[in-house]
Amino acid sequence: MKAVILISGNGSNLQSIIDNASKIDLQICCVISNKADAFGLKRAEKANIDCIFIDPLLFDSNLAFDKELISVIDQHKVEFIILAGFMRILSPDVISKYFGKILNIHPSLLPKFPGLNTHQKAIESSEKIHGASVHFVTVKLDGGPVIAKETVSIDPTDDATTLAKKVLQKEHTLYPKVIQWYTQKRLKLIDESTATLDGRVL
Ligand code: GAR
Repeated sequence: MKAVILISGNGSNLQSIIDNASKIDLQICCVISNKADAFGLKRAEKANIDCIFIDPLLFDSNLAFDKELISVIDQHKVEFIILAGFMRILSPDVISKYFGKILNIHPSLLPKFPGLNTHQKAIESSEKIHGASVHFVTVKLDGGPVIAKETVSIDPTDDATTLAKKVLQKEHTLYPKVIQWYTQKRLKLIDESTATLDGRVL
């Protein structure tokens, strides 16, 4: 199944998806970044994947940026969109156009800690367990139905950096697994708050 992957940074999740692509029946048609220096672009290049930097400074609004994004995505005729550390909020236009076709990975056990600085927030809230979630993207920020999660324990010696490392390691197996469910057509977004796996509500 054909997908485009959107990134903003290091792209370690992108790398794990590239490494697993053939095993999970995924064809990565294009990698798009909103950051020129995203290391993920280098990873895509090395894997001979078409990569594109869309410069936000060239657009006078989020909507104008998203129009360009839609145009690039549509040129590649993909079946779904994978957000892998993409640090922009997509406009409702994009989300409704690709309803049920956008997956995101978020570094917390949603619905806990949506938004930024999730590892610091988990430590400050004295959580014992933390982790990552993969969810369908809907208009509510980090609020679409959760498909699967992985957990890690927070040790007394952990800080945001060590915790981020532990969580990322889990992300690298979690995301390819969920993407495979998608390529196998086992996942479906029913409405803003409901998704199914093999016809069963998640
Ligand atoms: C990952 O931890 C991902 O969950 C998070 O950014 C990191 C990207 O790392 N995504 C978000 O925070 C999205 N709101 P990577 O570039 O090495 O894959």
